[in-house]
Formats: sequence, structure tokens, C-alpha cells
Amino acid sequence: MPAKSTYETLPVEWRAAYERDRLSPPDYADPAPERRAARMLAAFILTGLCFLALPGTLLGVWNLLSIAEHHAGSGVSNAWIQAHGHAQLFGWVGTFILGISLYVLPKFRGRRLRRFGRAWAVWALWTVGVGWRWWAGVSAQAWRPALIVSGALELLALALVLRVVAFKAGHRGARDDPSKRPSDLGSWLGILGFASLAVALILNLGISIYVVATASLPLYPPVADRVFLLIALWGFAAPMVWGYSTRFVTVFLGLEAPIHRAAGALCTGIGAIVVCALARQFLVADLLTLAVAAAAIWALRVFHRASRPAKLLGVYQRYPAFVRLAYVWLVIGALLGVAADLLPNQAGLGGASRHAITVGFLATLIFAIGPRILPSFLNGRELYSSALMAASLWILNLGCVLRVSSETVAYSAGGAAWRILPISALLELTAVVIFVVNLGITVKRPIPAWLGPDEITAALPLYWYVTSYPETRSMLIGVGLKTLAQVQEPPRSLSLAEAAEADDADVEPMLAGLRSFFSQRQPKRAGRSHT
Ligand code: HEM
Repeated sequence: MPAKSTYETLPVEWRAAYERDRLSPPDYADPAPERRAARMLAAFILTGLCFLALPGTLLGVWNLLSIAEHHAGSGVSNAWIQAHGHAQLFGWVGTFILGISLYVLPKFRGRRLRRFGRAWAVWALWTVGVGWRWWAGVSAQAWRPALIVSGALELLALALVLRVVAFKAGHRGARDDPSKRPSDLGSWLGILGFASLAVALILNLGISIYVVATASLPLYPPVADRVFLLIALWGFAAPMVWGYSTRFVTVFLGLEAPIHRAAGALCTGIGAIVVCALARQFLVADLLTLAVAAAAIWALRVFHRASRPAKLLGVYQRYPAFVRLAYVWLVIGALLGVAADLLPNQAGLGGASRHAITVGFLATLIFAIGPRILPSFLNGRELYSSALMAASLWILNLGCVLRVSSETVAYSAGGAAWRILPISALLELTAVVIFVVNLGITVKRPIPAWLGPDEITAALPLYWYVTSYPETRSMLIGVGLKTLAQVQEPPRSLSLAEAAEADDADVEPMLAGLRSFFSQRQPKRAGRSHT
């Protein structure tokens, strides 16, 4: 409803429509909240892509090239390695997970995201926190305040996320239904994932305070760093990804429903990994990662025969195979982690394990399933190119095979393996650039119109046109809807025909303009189906 002074100048049809809205709101779905939610999610996705490309992968490649040049893991600053790890795990994977959680968790609970201000505050706090932590590690400039303030900002962002997704809007402290415990595997994995993220971020802040008080460089001590990474990877990133797999991988690959009764065992296992990491029982923790990874694969039925056809529309047709390959990498990573504990003299096993999990599992899974789900979350967009999606998956996995197989050999036996490592780094960089470009263009392209030009009528509400497709506003004003220029939000029940009549304008040029707009925005996919 516009301000009183504006309201009084509006044509009688507009005022009557506002009054109708007040007395009985129209029953069609309001497109505005979805548009705002998609804008918020797009900000998280684009930020995650920026972290992935530059602070994450470019720095990782630089590190690996330096290590290969010096034929030693000590050939590069450990602060840079830690900065790279933080940018990838929190800047990329973490930003994606927080944004997707803010977008989908309210929907999973049957309500809409209403606290957009809080969601944007999360984005700002998290981006500044992670970005500053990265810069402190790389530049060592003002690193003492940077480590502490960035750690506090990250924690604050998480606290806000939990407020948005776990509490009912308007009821301080009240859960949706306190008597109802979640019964599905995905919810429990999400709860454990967020709880572990809280532990990891508190630990991060604690380590930062310790480093600030005792060290001369922004460098976490190796054991503390290992504890932190174990919790971040196996307590937070992997369980969150399994949790979302129960929804998205199951649906898009046409798998049978996950085994929900595995929730207790899986969550106990994840909790035990976090406890063992905190107690510095690394061998036990790594053995548990192997058991938990196997249990997750069983519970998700990733390798069971699909019960329905996979959803392949608009994406690389073989992406289901890469989803399964990601879970193979998960097992390889866990096995290599145990091997690294049992064979401490084989330097490089730890790095090989870490990248089998981060690049092989996390990145492959995100590269395979992200292009399938993210464009449709972003106002029903379509993926820019399935060929680029295919290229990113193949090249990433080729790079990962070379990396994981050559890292241990290079570090312990040397020889030709040192020459393979840079090739692996450049392949992974190429794959990441392709993924970033493909998703970046997808997000930046205009929203397709999931309505044919023949379905455009003067009976549809003006509000629906200008809210769903804000670009139509200036066109409609240009062909005579003068009143629209005066108000931000037209009444929801005012049809285009009524609006034209109110301004004494001809509705036909409006319909022609809209039909031309909608025909230019038609989706590439045949059938215009969302599935
Ligand atoms: C895409 C190409 C990548 C390259 C070239 C790369 C390179 C490196 C290098 C050279 C190291 C140090 C030595 C070692 O552990 O092997 C490292 C460590 C690490 N990387 Fe990567 N990496 C890449 C991708 C990723 C991704 C996608 C993630 C996470 C999602 C990740 C997370 C980490 C972590 C957590 C560490 C350990 C940091 C620490 O010790 O605190 N990396 N990476």
C-alpha cells in the first residue's frame, strides 16, 4: 500500500483494488518472496564462486606449483596453505551450504523465508569474516585483529543462520513444533552438521586467540590445525552434503528413499569423530571416518539400482555416474586417511587423502548436482551449457586422479611424479574455471519465462507481471500505465485490463509488448517443464 499522500492521488480503480486486497487477499501465489529468496541465494552462490576461483583454487595451484618446483612440501608458506584451505572449505563449500540452507530449509519446514534482512546480514558477516581470514593468512597484514575479528564474524553469521532456520518467525525462542522431533535422516545430518560447524568455528576462534598471544605469524599449530580440519571436513562439510544428498541425489538420480533408521548410527559416528578429533585420537577418528563413509553410502543407497529414471533435462546426461564416482572418492579419501596414520613416513598420504575428499568427493558432487539444482532454485533458470558441465566434471576428475596418485609417490619417492603434480593442478584449475564460468553466466542471464506468449492476457494481474518480471515495469509505463510509475507495489488484485482502463490507455500495445518480451525469454528446454 503506498503512502497516504500518494494513495489519495491514485485512480479509483487502483484504490478499489487496494481495498479488495485488504478485505480478502487474492489466492494466487505471491511471486515476490520467491524472487527475493532467489536474489539472496544468488548472492551466496556468486560469493562462493569467487572464493572458489581466486582465494581458493588459484592460491592452491600456486602452492602446488611451488611445492613441485622445490620438490618438497616445505616449498611453500604454511600460512598460505591454511588460507587456501579456509577459502575452499568455508569460502566456497561453506558459503554454498549456508545460502542453500537459508533458501531451502524454511521450505522443507513448510514455510517461507521472511527474515530477509537477517539472511543478508549472514551473507555480509560470513563474506567479510572468511575474506578477511584469507587475507590475514596471505598478506600477514594486521593479522592479529584480523584472525580474531574474522573468527568472531564467522561465529556470529552461524548464530544468525541458526536463528533463521531453527526458530519460528515472530516467536522468540519457539521452535516450529517442540514436541515433534525430526524423523528423517537428512534433518539429523543437518543438525549434526551445523552443531559441528559451531564446534569448528569456536575452535577456530580459540586457536586464533592462542596464535595471536603466542606466535609471530598467522599460522595455526599443526596439531590444532589437524583437529580443526577433521571437524570441519567430517563433522560439517561431509554430513551436510550427505544430508542434502538424501533430498537431491535421491530425487534427481531416481533412487529409492534413504534408510532413515540409519540416522542414529550415523550421527553417533559423526559425533564420535568430533570427540576423537578434540581428544587428538587421530587413528581412531580416521578409522571412524571410514566406517561412517561406508554407512552413509549404504543409507543413501547411492549404488543401488535406481527405481525411477534420473532427471536429465537440460544438464550433462552422464552426471549421475559422476555423483556415484564422488562417493567412490569419499571411500578412497577415508582409506588414504587411515593409511596416512599407519604409514607416517609416507609423506603426501595426508594431502592425497584430503584432496580425494575435497576435490574428489565434495567438488565432484557439487559440480555434478549443483548445475542440476541451482539454476532452478534461481527463479527457474536454465543451465547455460551442459557441454561445459561435462567438461568441468571430466577435467576435474582427471586432475584429481593425477593429483591423488602422484602426491604420495612424489613426496616419498620423488622422480617423475613431481612433474605430474603441476599438470594435475592446472587441470583442476581449468575445471574450476569452467564450472565458475558456466554457473556465473547461468546466474547472470535473464530469468526465462515459463509462460508462453499465447498465455499472456489482460485478465492476469499487473502485480504478477511486474513482480515476476521486473523488466516489464518500464515497458508498461512507456506504453501508457502512468500510475505504475507512482507506486512501488501495485495492488495484487488489479488486472492489467483494469490498470489500462484506469489510465485511459489502450491495453493492446501492452499485450503486444508483453508477448514480445515473453517470446524472447522462452526457455531452451522443450515442453517447458521444471523437472
Ligand atoms: C582445485 C585445486 C586444488 C589445488 C591445486 C589444491 C592445492 C593444495 C595444496 C598444494 C595444499 C597443501 C599440500 C597438501 O595438503 O597437499 C592444499 C591443502 C589443502 N586444501 Fe587444497 N587444493 C585444491 C582444491 C581444494 C578444495 C576444492 C578444497 C576444499 C573444498 C581444498 C582444501 C584444502 C585443505 C583443507 C587443505 C589443508 C589446509 C591446511 O593444512 O590447513 N583444496 N591444497
